[in-house]
Parts: sequence; structure tokens; C-alpha cells
Amino acid sequence: MDVSRNSVSMEQWSSIIDERMLDDEPVLNLQRDGEGTYDAVFIGGGAAGRFGAAYLRALGGRPLVIDRWPFLGGSCPHQACVPHHLFSESAALLDRERLLDGKLWFGLGERKVSILDVVEVFRHGRVAAHAFMNWQTKAQLEVEYVLNAPARVLPPGSTPGSDGARHTVEAAGRAFSAKNVVLGIGARQNPLDAPGADLPGIFDFATLVEELDYEPRRAVIIGGSKVAVEYGSFFQAAGCATTILTRSPLLATQSLHHVDADLRRYVVEGMRKRGVEIVEGSSLLEIKGGDRVERVIASGPDGEMLEFECDFVFNGTGESPNSELPRQWLGVDTGPRGEILVDKRMRTSVECVYAVGDIIGPPMEMFKARKCGMTAARNIMGEAFEFDFSEYPDFFHTTYDVTWVGLSEEEARAQSNDIVVIQMPPKGMADGEIPLPCSEGTMLYAFLRPEFSGFQKCVVDGRSRRILGFHHVGYGAKDAFQYLDYLLRRPEGLTIDEMGQMNELFLNPEHFIQLCRLRAGRRELVDL
Ligand SMILES: Cc1cc2nc3c(=O)[nH]c(=O)nc-3n(C[C@H](O)[C@H](O)[C@H](O)COP(=O)(O)OP(=O)(O)OC[C@H]3O[C@@H](n4cnc5c(N)ncnc54)[C@H](O)[C@@H]3O)c2cc1C
Ligand SMILES: NC(=O)c1ccc[n+]([C@@H]2O[C@H](COP(=O)([O-])OP(=O)(O)OC[C@H]3O[C@@H](n4cnc5c(N)ncnc54)[C@H](OP(=O)(O)O)[C@@H]3O)[C@@H](O)[C@H]2O)c1
Repeated sequence: MDVSRNSVSMEQWSSIIDERMLDDEPVLNLQRDGEGTYDAVFIGGGAAGRFGAAYLRALGGRPLVIDRWPFLGGSCPHQACVPHHLFSESAALLDRERLLDGKLWFGLGERKVSILDVVEVFRHGRVAAHAFMNWQTKAQLEVEYVLNAPARVLPPGSTPGSDGARHTVEAAGRAFSAKNVVLGIGARQNPLDAPGADLPGIFDFATLVEELDYEPRRAVIIGGSKVAVEYGSFFQAAGCATTILTRSPLLATQSLHHVDADLRRYVVEGMRKRGVEIVEGSSLLEIKGGDRVERVIASGPDGEMLEFECDFVFNGTGESPNSELPRQWLGVDTGPRGEILVDKRMRTSVECVYAVGDIIGPPMEMFKARKCGMTAARNIMGEAFEFDFSEYPDFFHTTYDVTWVGLSEEEARAQSNDIVVIQMPPKGMADGEIPLPCSEGTMLYAFLRPEFSGFQKCVVDGRSRRILGFHHVGYGAKDAFQYLDYLLRRPEGLTIDEMGQMNELFLNPEHFIQLCRLRAGRRELVDL
């Protein structure tokens, strides 16, 4: 279907997307009937491709986005971040109900809550985000696109060579000429590698939202990073007893950097207090079952054999870049984990071919995907612009938002012998000994179950008075961390004295502001 000359409302987009999910009819939104040469064809309209195309258009260029799905936005709103946030918000509410059970109006008790119902809520609602992105990209961002059509780059000889075109991209039975190609086709879940890995009842983040059709009652998760912790927290909070089998210590995987040991301890102990069984140092050996999974066999930290009954296995073992097709099409160089190799300008080993987002490997995060797209756009439009994503603020959910930026205490101490730590609860106090931090979203915990009222730490260099890291377990701090990241990474950094000058909006993570102010008056800084 061709919507190029139509004004399409959000409601109409929702119906179009629902219909196109069931067939393979392409959706065309083209100017000049797709003739002429595009400055760039973005293959993949996820976070990386859509933001890159929008930026290139804003700079005055002509982009085309092609996606195999009938909507723009990619995996984040369809299967990954957005459902994860819905599940994590549900987990936080459910845990509050359970942890405060019998107090005030709380009365959920041990009752199991339907995971399938929450998944259904997502399934029914997700088209709204898709419709909005199709609408916005056409009506407001004026970007051309072809949807519901896989793309492929044709061999170099197939390009006419006129008008600066170097590549031809085929989709929906048509050929599009491009000066540049931007590869942004994302990553996919790694499969489990053990006998029984093809049994029914084994899910990952994508198949959970596409295929779950029964109510899980006993879950085993394989993996020990963000996905394992976030989905495990949700399943447990819903009343589905959950075991996490993790090879490395939970949240100590190499793919996460700067995780502070105290923050990690608070998170892991908190998950255990909420009933999640965590087996560190364990390896999956086999999954057994018939019509559905029935038990997982694993080796334990001392090589012992472990067996877990279950009716649901969840794979949280990470993702691999979708680089096979681009390698076939263009011969782009890839790294040891299949990631397409790029420089800081997102240029691949092939001239006029860029790669952006998850396809270039970790960190697989939205900020990186979108800014990679923007970086490619700026370079294509003639600016020598570099993007270094080696440092960034990070987060995951348990029942809380867990946020951090900069160095952990251990990393800071390895660099300097004058490190000052400002922490709540203060060092040496047990969780729950005082009802602090008493903050946004943890007020009821602070008064009724103080051990669940969160944790925060600020790491300061005593000599320069510069803050090296912030670490937070609680609610509502994510926004602040985006700006703290910016301030910390300015060439002049951010000092404890500047923190003490800021205006807090009491109550919240601006506890960092008030705690820093309590120490900023001292010439010789000491812990708090
Ligand atoms: C469970 C989970 C939760 C997450 N939560 C967060 C979070 O809270 N915050 C965060 O920052 N990050 C999160 N992430 C990471 C985030 O989702 C990714 O980093 C981001 O979506 C990557 O964007 P992308 O554009 O590189 O890839 P994608 O969004 O996957 O886009 C790739 C696009 O390419 C298309 N495509 C594939 N093959 C072809 C083809 N041959 N032709 C045309 N199109 C094709 C696909 O249809 C897709 O639309 C999460 C990831 C997971 C797995
Ligand atoms: N909040 C967010 O921003 C958010 C949320 C979810 C996902 N994401 C992103 O999405 C991507 C996927 O997340 P993820 O948590 O699945 O992956 P991840 O961070 O790459 O971690 C993979 C985990 O699986 C384990 N693992 C890998 N292979 C294994 C195997 N064969 N057997 C057993 N365990 C294995 C790893 O253990 P080892 O340490 O032992 O290797 C690690 O614990 C990540 O890039 C992540 O950043 C972001």
C-alpha cells in the first residue's frame, strides 16, 4: 500500500499496522516515487535507524528508512525496553503489596498474580507506540520509508554510478539508489546451548511477548545480567517462584561496568529477601520435559549436580549482532562476537557503509543506538563527528530503579589513596537500622519496612574534591543521572562544593545534594 500522498491519522496507522502484521504487503511512504538518489538508505528503522534518518533529514539530507516490520521504532517498543518497563513497574507495585502485606490497606497476601494478563496488556497496547512513530516520522520528521519489507544491498556492480550513488538497496520489489548505506538491523537473543533447549516452555524477552499462552508457576532463569534480574524480579513479584542460575556472580558479568560492590550487595540481598533463589557459579547442563519443560539440571559452584522443577525456563544469556547478512552483502569486517567493526564516526571497513546500534556490539542501549544513528548522519552530511560511548550512565530494574554513573568505590580506591565516601545508610550500619534513605517512592518502606528503603553512595576524590561516581537504588533518580553524567564528564568535572550549591527539590535523589552540602564546608573531606 502506498500512503505517500495521504495524511494518515494515528488511528488509521494502528489499523494499518495490525493488518500488515498478518501479511507481507509493503507500506510505501516515498517522495518523487522513490526515484533519484538518497543521501543514505538506513536498513533497519529501530532506534538507531530512525534517529539517524531523522537527524540526516534535519541537516537537509534525503534519507530513506527500510524495515521488515510494518512500523518504525524497532525492538525497543515491540519486544524489549517497553515491555520490560511495564513488567518492572508491575514488579515494583506487586512487591510493595507483598512487603507491606497486612499493614495499612495492603492485603495481597500470597496470592498469585497472572503474568499472562500483564503480557496481554502489553500485547494489546503496543501498537499505539508503533502508530505514533509511523505518524511522527512521516508527518513531523518528513522522512521517507518503506515498511513491512526486508531490505538487501545489491552487489556493487548493480549501481548505475550516476548522481553520486554508490549502492543499490532492494526492498518491496524496488531498487533504491544511495550515496551511503547505514546498517542498523540490531541483534538477536543467543540460544541456550544444552540438551532440551528446544522444548516447549522455554522463552526469551521476545518470545515471551509473542508466544506465552499459559500461566507460569515455577520459573528458572539462565543468565546473570540485566535481563535475568529484571524478568526474574517480575516473575517472583507475580508469585511465580523464581530461580536464577548464573555462571558469574549476579550482576558481576563483564558486560556491566562500574557496578559498585555495596550497590550490588544491596540489590542481590534484596532479591533474596523477596524470595528469588539465586545460584551463582552454576552452569546449565540439561532441560528435561515432555509437552513442556519440567526440570532444569545444572552443575553448582562446587561441581555438584542440581535439579530444579519448573514449568517455565527463561533465557537471559544476552544477544548477538545480526551481522551475517551485511557480511554477505558487502563483506564488512566483523569482530569476535559478530559485531560489525566501526570507527568513532560509525564508518565500517567498506566505503560509504556505516553501521549503528546493537549491530556494532555492546553496550546495547538506547542512548548508544540513537546517538550512533545521529553520528552516521552528521558524517554523511559532511561533518567529521565522533561518538565515544565508552562511558555512560547505566541502570536496570529489580523492584527498584538501580542507577549509577562514574567509578565504583573500588575503582576509585585503585586510582587514589584519598577517597571519601558519602553513603546512606552510612558505612557500618545494617540495612534497616535507620529508615534512610527516606526518599521518593520509598516513604512507605522507610516507615514500615526500613530495610527496603534503598541505598545511595557518592564517591569523591578527597584532594581535587571532584565527584568520581554516583550509585543509587530507589526510585525517581534516573532523570537526575542523565544530567549527573553530563556534569561529571565535563573537562572541569563536578566538585562536592558545586553539588552543595545546587538547589534541591526535597525529597528525592537530591539527597546527594544535601549530603554533599553537609560535607562541603570542610577543608579536609571525610566520609559521611
Ligand atoms: C529485554 C530488553 C530490554 C531492554 N531495555 C532497555 C532499556 O530499558 N533501556 C535501554 O537503553 N536499552 C534497553 N534495551 C536495549 C535496546 O532495546 C536496544 O539497544 C535498541 O533497541 C537497539 O536499537 P537498534 O536500532 O540497534 O536495533 P532494533 O531496535 O532491534 O532495530 C533493528 C531493526 O532492523 C529491522 N530489520 C532486521 N533485519 C532487517 C532487514 N533485512 N531489512 C530491513 N529491516 C530489518 C528490524 O525489524 C528492526 O526494526 C533492552 C534490550 C532488551 C533485550
Ligand atoms: N535496563 C537496560 O538498560 C537494559 C535492560 C535489559 C537489557 N538491556 C541490554 O540488552 C542486552 C541483553 O541483556 P542481557 O542481560 O540478556 O545480556 P548481557 O548483559 O550480555 O549478559 C548476559 C548474561 O548471560 C550470561 N551468559 C552468556 N552466555 C551464557 C551461557 N552460554 N550460559 C550461561 N550464561 C550465559 C552471562 O554470564 P557471564 O558473565 O558468565 O558471561 C551474563 O550474565 C544487553 O546489552 C543489555 O545492556 C538493557
